[in-house]
Amino acid sequence: MIIAIDGPSGAGKSTVAKLLSKELGFEYIDTGAMYRALAYKAYIQGIDINESEIAEMLQTTDIDYHDNRIFLDGKDVENLIREEAISIAASKISALKIVREKMVDLQRKIAANKNAVLEGRDIGTIVFPDADYKFFITAPVEERARRRYEQLKANMIEADYDSVLKDMIKRDQNDSAREYSPLKIADDAILIDTGRMDLAEVVKTLAAHIGGKNVL
Ligand code: DC
Repeated sequence: MIIAIDGPSGAGKSTVAKLLSKELGFEYIDTGAMYRALAYKAYIQGIDINESEIAEMLQTTDIDYHDNRIFLDGKDVENLIREEAISIAASKISALKIVREKMVDLQRKIAANKNAVLEGRDIGTIVFPDADYKFFITAPVEERARRRYEQLKANMIEADYDSVLKDMIKRDQNDSAREYSPLKIADDAILIDTGRMDLAEVVKTLAAHIGGKNVL
C-alpha cells in the first residue's frame, strides 16, 4: 500500500508522515531529503546549479534512503541537510528536469513492493498517481513560517521570523511555478489544513481516512 503525503514546506508533513508510518508499521520515505542531499553535494563542492553541471554530478552520485535516513555516496547525511542554505539550494536543484527524472525513478524503486508512506511535493501527482491514499497537507504561510522559526530556535540555529517568512514565500513560488512536477494538489487528494490543528489530530484524521482508527 502506498500513502502519498504532499504539501508545501512547513505544513507539518514530516512529523505527520513519520507518526503515521510508525502507527501503521509502514516504511517512511522522505523524498525531500533526496533533493536536499543532492543540493548539499553541489553546495559543499561549489557546483553551480544548472542542467549541465548537475547532469555531470549525477553520473557519480549515489543516493539511497533507508531506516528513516538519507545516504549520499554511502555516507549518512541526514543531519547535514536541514540548514536554510541547503533548503534554498534544494528548491533550485529540484526544478531541474534531469534531477526530477532520476529522483522519481529512484523513489519508485525504493517503494516498490512495500507498504510505504511517502512525503514530498509530487507523490500523488507524478511519483505514484495510483497511490492508495493521497493527502495534501497545508497551512497558511505565516503559520508555516512561525513553526519553522520556532524549530530553528529550538535547534539553536540563528534566525529571524521575517527572513524565514520571506524565504518560505519564495520557496512556495519556486515549488509551485516550476515547469516540471510543480507542487499542486492531485484531483483525488484529501486536503487537510493544519493551521488550527495539532499534529496528533492530523495523524488521527489521516488514520481515520485509511480506516486505521484502531491503530492509534
Ligand atoms: O520537503 P523538503 O523541504 O525537505 O523539500 C526540499 C525541497 O525539495 C523543496 O524545495 C521541495 C523539493 N521537493 C520536490 O520538489 N519534490 C519532492 N517530492 C520533495 C521535495
